[in-house]
Amino acid sequence: MGHSSALDVRREADYKTGRDLAGILPYSTEFIDGNLHIGGVDMVKLAREAGTALYVMDENHIRRQLRDYVKWTHFHWDAVDIVYAGKAFMSLAMVDIVNQEGCCLDVSSGGELAYAIRAGLPMERVYAHGNNKTEVELREAISAGVGQIVIDSFEEIERISRIATELGKVQGALIRVTPGVEADTHDFIKTGAEDSKFGFGLNQGLAMQAIKEAIAAPGIDFKGVHIHIGSQIFALRSFRAAIDVIVKFIASIKEETGVEVRVLDTGGGLGVAYGVPDEPSTIQDYGKVVIDGIKEECERYGLTVPRMAVEPGRSIVANAGVTLYTVGTIKKIPGIRTYIAVDGGMTDNIRTSLYDAHYEALIANKADLPRTMVGTVAGKHCESGDIVVTDGPIQETEVGDILCVAATGAYCQSMSNNYNKQVRPGVIFVDNGTWRWVVRRETYDDLMRCEVE
Ligand code: LLP
Repeated sequence: MGHSSALDVRREADYKTGRDLAGILPYSTEFIDGNLHIGGVDMVKLAREAGTALYVMDENHIRRQLRDYVKWTHFHWDAVDIVYAGKAFMSLAMVDIVNQEGCCLDVSSGGELAYAIRAGLPMERVYAHGNNKTEVELREAISAGVGQIVIDSFEEIERISRIATELGKVQGALIRVTPGVEADTHDFIKTGAEDSKFGFGLNQGLAMQAIKEAIAAPGIDFKGVHIHIGSQIFALRSFRAAIDVIVKFIASIKEETGVEVRVLDTGGGLGVAYGVPDEPSTIQDYGKVVIDGIKEECERYGLTVPRMAVEPGRSIVANAGVTLYTVGTIKKIPGIRTYIAVDGGMTDNIRTSLYDAHYEALIANKADLPRTMVGTVAGKHCESGDIVVTDGPIQETEVGDILCVAATGAYCQSMSNNYNKQVRPGVIFVDNGTWRWVVRRETYDDLMRCEVE
């Protein structure tokens, strides 16, 4: 993602209605009497009843994405784990869904593991990640009995071996390898990813050395290897390029150590549509390229096809979610731009200020009307970079309108913060005409919960 100034972008009214944005909204989206409905629930009524700012997620959309991954990977190979990357969006209700759909969970901290434990997810379905898991986190993961820890450093091999031995356990583990293929959104560059805080590089022999140490270490069951080449990837050939490299490496592991890799985890990264022209690859095509690709490469080297794992985060939840705000003030600066200020901003969606991320806005109570004006959706926080949409087409906007930002289901709530002591929005799941809080809105007491008085 580029870092040119977000305010350099100039866009024009596009006369699109909410219906033209269907591709970035949840599958269940409808337009009834001009109002936006999701999951059979009127977003305008919901906003007025539950208050704004508010994250709304379509539960069925989330389930459908997980099922699509299961379907289009298992279509090519029986043994594939769908490992939802909890960092994209995690709540107890989300872990319940992952559990009910028979999927696994990628946790990247002790806190995320605590959610998995609290939600009762079977621990063998947990993949524990992190480039610097603390001693405490490792102990928690090993005691809980997580199925696999993805080892990221030499220090960790020693730590896991010691803790597992002490606890009388044998810990399943993968070695995270940086394949030297880094995916850009639309393409890939080789070598770039070798300069990374994650994993062990291939070319310097570090990955092979780590694998040999893991195989030899008491208390560790070396199961296989893990790669993750990036996020919001459109070009499937980036995944294929990484698969070619990693399967070749798996062949050399067998040659040098005699050990056959039993698990190959190719990480997450499938891109999603944030804007109307975006055309990401489908889960169906992803399944074909990744799963068939691994099979093909294994055949080439005469390897037994391993158990596979993929770790989608964004593509499960991004388009399942929207954020609802109430428009509070509108400032038209002649010859410059119009600022539409909402009751949230960089505290509930930091992605625009952080990455120049692209979002689309519509007015939920005028969802059927064309987007005839251009407005910059700004937050309420004390920072000029507090912007959610830069110069975006939007319906003629008035104070009091319910403004909906699409495709905010991934990495918005999970990266939210309390800057300016803003209380974070709650999360509502909608499904089949009903809605329920799965995370309630914070209160001022929540803000002060950790204060020592
Ligand atoms: N597996 C590993 C090891 C990862 O590091 C990640 C994401 C995933 C899976 C899931 O990738 P996904 O399918 O969601 O692309 N905060 C950034 C995204 C950071 C992604 C970090 N790793 C954003 O808001 O765009």
